[in-house]
Amino acid sequence: MIDTKKPTEMLKDEHQAVLKKLAAFEKIIGRLDKREDLAELKELAAFFQTEFWGHFDKEEQALFPEFDSFMPHGAGPIAVMLEEHRVLRDTNEVMQEAIGRYLAGTNDQATLKTITDNVSHFIGFLRSHINKEDGILFAMADMHLDQRQNDKVARLFLEMDKR
Ligand SMILES: [Fe+2]
Repeated sequence: MIDTKKPTEMLKDEHQAVLKKLAAFEKIIGRLDKREDLAELKELAAFFQTEFWGHFDKEEQALFPEFDSFMPHGAGPIAVMLEEHRVLRDTNEVMQEAIGRYLAGTNDQATLKTITDNVSHFIGFLRSHINKEDGILFAMADMHLDQRQNDKVARLFLEMDKR
């Protein structure tokens, strides 16, 4: 065994870190007109543009494939999670484009509204997605994956962290 923590516990820890970022994001989009949080917004946008997707990679490339050992491939909850990942990727693209313009100095109402609408959607959707993963999906993994599978997933996580 390479880590005392199960892969699902590692992912839950990452979820907690993401939830903190979402709370910070929420605060900022409530006062975009003030343009006081440019540095923090830039940092948050950068996190959700790059680092964050490493978490999805861990789920999609390492954990989810193990569900094939106890569930029909691509069925039910995994299909739902993957579809939600797609929605989050799409929403992120739209919000990133608008945040980029805002950070470059654009300040019109349409840009502010695009940011507020899409970041709000991203925040609400990701919170509920995390709830489902923590409460349902990871519980299923904990119930069905054996030690060998957990070790394999944890090893893949380590490799992915080095990328
Ligand atoms: Fe997740």
